[in-house]
Amino acid sequence: MTTASLSNTESLTLLSLTIASAAIIANTFHGDGEPLVASVALSGIAFSASYAMIRWLGPTFMKAGLKGVDMSKVHKKEIPETMGAVTAVVYLLLIIVFIPFPFYKDIVAATSGGGNRDVVLEVEHVQHGRLLHRFPHSKLASYLSAILSLQSICILGIGDDLFDIRWRHKFFIPAFASIPILIVYFVDFGVTQIVIPIPLQPYLGELFDLGILYYAYMAAIAIFCPNSINILAGINGIEVSQSLVIALLLVMNDSLYLLSPYPHPATDSHLFSLYLLLPFIGVSLALCCHNWYPARVFVGDTYCYFAGMVFAVVGILGHFSKTLLLLFVPQIFNFLYSAPQLFHIVRCPRHRLPRFNARSGLLEPSVTEWQTPPKPIISAGLRALHQLHLLRITIDARGVITESTNFTLLNLWLVWFGPKREDRLAKEILLMQFFCGLTGLFVRHRLALWIFKEDNL
Ligand code: UD1
Ligand code: MG
Repeated sequence: MTTASLSNTESLTLLSLTIASAAIIANTFHGDGEPLVASVALSGIAFSASYAMIRWLGPTFMKAGLKGVDMSKVHKKEIPETMGAVTAVVYLLLIIVFIPFPFYKDIVAATSGGGNRDVVLEVEHVQHGRLLHRFPHSKLASYLSAILSLQSICILGIGDDLFDIRWRHKFFIPAFASIPILIVYFVDFGVTQIVIPIPLQPYLGELFDLGILYYAYMAAIAIFCPNSINILAGINGIEVSQSLVIALLLVMNDSLYLLSPYPHPATDSHLFSLYLLLPFIGVSLALCCHNWYPARVFVGDTYCYFAGMVFAVVGILGHFSKTLLLLFVPQIFNFLYSAPQLFHIVRCPRHRLPRFNARSGLLEPSVTEWQTPPKPIISAGLRALHQLHLLRITIDARGVITESTNFTLLNLWLVWFGPKREDRLAKEILLMQFFCGLTGLFVRHRLALWIFKEDNL
């Protein structure tokens, strides 16, 4: 068996999963069909396909130069990088194949059939016959714009992995990829008002129109989500698994809306989100199997951008971007905490991942060395952070700062809780992220009533 082939057990498991999923999909063609069931089954196929293809394509990627060194290992060997591109392509194909499931009946009912659109049925008739899980034809525009944005981010992400674009340039990559969804939002929906919290209503009214600023806000979300996942990185498995946690929490949130009686205004948005997230979970789980400690492949920036964009797309088109941000609390913290290095107030080395101590086999916080002593104001800032246990600095005999730990959540965690094995660190961060997310959702649905008139659940 070569490293690029599947073991017998793996082949059998993947084959059974694929056959079972295909059988379920075939079954949904009888009667009215159930797009949600089909989506779950397609996600099974998404998993099998990406699991096998990542294994098969590894050596091909290495040959093309898409490889990276796993720095936190005793034997530093090269493994395939950019494998997220494989998952992204499988994902895109599957969500395109999925289109007939939620839209097919609507297309048939809205025309007289046989592609003949001159005899259009009454609107009431179409609406009357509409079932839960089915979308009106108009939603296809949003769905297609989501696919366009995700395709753009893949192309740009692969470009980044190939050419290693500089950080200050690649920061804006997602902004370009968000153009399709923003344009379709403008054409199709165009709502730019926000609900004002009750305490502020006497001053601003119930609704406030943000106008063009609302588009800037959506673009900011699209820039933030992908980049924040890309910088909470550097240990095996963390990029994919943090995305899986966010996706699972979003699915939990979406499911709450399916339980509320139909027709509910927000149900469609959350179904839309489920249809995009379930296959995402399928492909990401497969990638996670290969990328988890000890990693056999790296995900590449393509995956980080792609994952972040999936979240941005469902948040924006589903109109729950604020809820989305509640699930990004660790990433928001990491981003704000990283700011001194991102904005070059403190030197930012190419890699800030934790330092591997070959003797103990554990990860320790990595540091940036101060070849020339920091300016007094920066020195004071660093010392204050050290006092607050938000940083660790090393001071020489003259009282000058010689080293400070890198400003990332992973390093800070190691400062707080001491050196750890790589997989242990990943698990702890994920657990913390999951509980932050759960708290976020709880706050969203329980406490929102204090400042807004209604929870839209
Ligand atoms: C971001 C971070 C950088 C971090 C890097 C790690 C910022 C501004 N940038 O950069 O500090 O070092 O991610 O992914 O915060 N690698 C490992 N083990 C892993 C994952 C990655 O050793 O588990 C190394 C490999 O050599 C791999 C490389 O990191 O080839 C990938 O780095 P890349 O994703 O290109 O870095 P950036 O996203 O630019
Ligand atoms: Mg990266």
